[in-house]
Amino acid sequence: MRVLTTIDEVRAARGAFPGLGLVPTMGFLHEGHLSLVSRAKAECGAVAVSIFVNPTQFGPNEDLARYPRDLPRDLAFLQAGGVDAVFTPSPSEIYPAGFATRIEVGAVAEPLEGASRPGHFAGVATVVAKLFNIVQPTRAYFGQKDAQQCVVIRRMTRDLDLPVEIVVAPTVREADGLALSSRNAYLEPAQRAVAPVLFRALSDARLRFEAGERNAEALRAIIREVIAREPGVDIDYVSVADPETLRELDSVGTVGLASLAARIGKTRLIDNVLLGGAAPDVRAATT
Ligand code: PAF
Repeated sequence: MRVLTTIDEVRAARGAFPGLGLVPTMGFLHEGHLSLVSRAKAECGAVAVSIFVNPTQFGPNEDLARYPRDLPRDLAFLQAGGVDAVFTPSPSEIYPAGFATRIEVGAVAEPLEGASRPGHFAGVATVVAKLFNIVQPTRAYFGQKDAQQCVVIRRMTRDLDLPVEIVVAPTVREADGLALSSRNAYLEPAQRAVAPVLFRALSDARLRFEAGERNAEALRAIIREVIAREPGVDIDYVSVADPETLRELDSVGTVGLASLAARIGKTRLIDNVLLGGAAPDVRAATT
C-alpha cells in the first residue's frame, strides 16, 4: 500500500491503475468505510482512499479541532483491507496560500444539512472536486448515511461533467441499528445507549409507509414522537423529502427520503432511510 502526501506523488502513481475506485474520507475509519473499500476494490480492480479532515466543511462553532483522528490505526485498517494507495495531504497541500475558489451546488445543498450548517456543502463540493481532479478515479464511493452529500456530489459531478461514476453504498449499522459514524466516538456510554432511537424512529416511519401511510407530515410526526420518548435527544430537523430534489413532500408517492439530525449531548448525529424501493441497510460484521 502506497501512502502519498502530495499531489505530485498521486499524479506520478496514478498511471499504475487503469481502473481506480476512490473512497474519500476524513479518517477515523470504521466498517462503513471498509464496505466502500471492498466494493471499490471488487468493482475497479484497485482502490485509493483519501484521508483529509477538510476544514472548509466545518462551521466556526463545529467540531473541527476535536474531530477524531488516528492515522496509524487508519493505515493499518486500510492495509488489511487491501487498499492500493492512501492520500493523506496536509491542509496547505489542498488549500495553498491564495486559494479562493468555492463550488456552490445550488438548491439541493440548501435544505436540511445545508440549512443547519451554512457553507458545509460548498466545502464538501470543493474538496471532493479537487480530490477527483487530483486522483482521477474511474468511480468514487460514498455512503447512503450522508444522503444529502450523495445528492450534492451527484449534482456537481453531472453539472461539471466530471469523468467519474458516483456509487452510493448502503448504510452500515451496529447490531442495535445505530448508523456507523466517526462521530459515534464522541458518545458517552449513556448517550450511546439512547442513540439507536434515531434508527428506531426512522424504521417506525418506514413500517407505517409500508403499511400504506402516504401523508408526509404523519410520517414526520411518527419520527418526532418516537424520539420524544427518549430523554436527552434534541431534534434538529425531521424531513420526508423527494430523494432527488430534497424538497419536502406533502404526500409520498413511490419513493421518499426520511432523514433527521439530532443532538445527543454535544454530539450531532444524522441518519436516514429510503421509503420505497430501497436497498436494505447492512449490519456491521463485527457487532
Ligand atoms: O463524508 C465525508 O467524510 C466527507 O464529507 C468527505 C466526502 C470525505 C469530504 O470531505
